[in-house]
Amino acid sequence: MANRFILNETAYFGAGARSVLADEAAGRGFKKALVVTDADLIKFGVTDSVVKALGAIPYEVFSDVKANPTVKTVKAGVRAFKAAKADFLVAVGGGSVIDTAKAIGIIIKNPEFKDVVSLEGVAPTKKKSVPIIALPTTAGTAAEVTINYVIIDEKTKRKMVCVDPHDIPVLSIVDAELTAGMPKSLTAATGMDALTHAIEGYITKGAWELSDMFELKAIEMISKNLRAAVQDGKDMRAREQMALAQYVAGMAFSNVGLGCVHSMAHPLGGRFDIPHGVANALLLPLVMEFNMTGSEEKYREIARAMGEDVEGKSAAEGAAAAVAAVKKLSLDLAIPQSLRELNIPKSALPKLAADAFADVCTGGNPRPVTEQDLLELYKKAY
Ligand SMILES: NC(=O)c1ccc[n+]([C@@H]2O[C@H](COP(=O)([O-])OP(=O)(O)OC[C@H]3O[C@@H](n4cnc5c(N)ncnc54)[C@H](O)[C@@H]3O)[C@@H](O)[C@H]2O)c1
Ligand SMILES: [Fe+2]
Repeated sequence: MANRFILNETAYFGAGARSVLADEAAGRGFKKALVVTDADLIKFGVTDSVVKALGAIPYEVFSDVKANPTVKTVKAGVRAFKAAKADFLVAVGGGSVIDTAKAIGIIIKNPEFKDVVSLEGVAPTKKKSVPIIALPTTAGTAAEVTINYVIIDEKTKRKMVCVDPHDIPVLSIVDAELTAGMPKSLTAATGMDALTHAIEGYITKGAWELSDMFELKAIEMISKNLRAAVQDGKDMRAREQMALAQYVAGMAFSNVGLGCVHSMAHPLGGRFDIPHGVANALLLPLVMEFNMTGSEEKYREIARAMGEDVEGKSAAEGAAAAVAAVKKLSLDLAIPQSLRELNIPKSALPKLAADAFADVCTGGNPRPVTEQDLLELYKKAY
């Protein structure tokens, strides 16, 4: 048995940390960047604040990334990279941007996967991605430190989870100032994505002592800071703690896997473009209830990390407290509570269940599931 643990070569944290960008890039011998970002981040000035930190390093910008990115977006990005004659990627954005940059970087070095769809699952790429420097602008996905990326195949409307150690950014700069402009709903949804990573990564089949250490700390930090980050977007201390917490969760889940909250959230993004964090937040308590049997001891530790008093409580009582604490947090953050609210047609549930059953994350769920179980869970969520 050998437990693998992969992380960035280098990472920086703290408000203003993007100031290291030019020196780090030059120190690695990088010559020209393709900055991958999206149109809103350009509009809000977030991309510009990073581009300025590139100093004298030449760059071109590819800003056609949309939330829940597609194969078409990736192919356009590959063309942009070649046209720019760049030698490294700077990803400025949320998970959608960073994931797109990963797919671009992989395909440039492994052109036999240029159809993108053959990258789904664990792809046998031979070469490391073009070097990526990732600067997250949301506090949720941890895509800057994970070995995964998620791309929609427009033909099947499925979100493909691609797992590939060759895609991990060489450098992450987790600068909370870049997250300061997130509106309340985005802060809430992305923060709940991070909590979902931490909880699923803590109870997933592959979890072990090293990953548990990170996930428990992430659960504690998110529970302490997410409400404040949502209520007062200018609270930089809370923003910094959330930016760090989501990274800490990612350090671990990337290496051990997730579970059915994610496998059920992906089809909602793929078929109905539901924001990833909203889908997770809505499903998390329901799937936690489903997974509780056999994981009670760990659930009690989740409750403890969330600040619940579990002294003297049985494992079952502690486990119930964990689910209640997650539900309360989600309600406090005004997260939608049903699929009906999201205008998902009930007739779509069987298709969603089939997609979720086929998702890479299903294998990591601590309790074995059938497609029928997933359908029942979607019905409960409806
Ligand atoms: N690679 C991984 O390990 C991993 C993990 C979880 C999720 N994901 C994927 O990441 C994607 C979701 O990423 P996300 O939740 O970070 O959101 P996102 O990247 O999809 O961005 C959502 C919206 O928020 C806007 N936005 C981003 N930063 C902002 C800021 N600072 N201020 C104002 N607006 C801002 C964007 O312009 C976009 O319109 C999904 O496709 C999901 O499947 C990947
Ligand atoms: Fe996620």
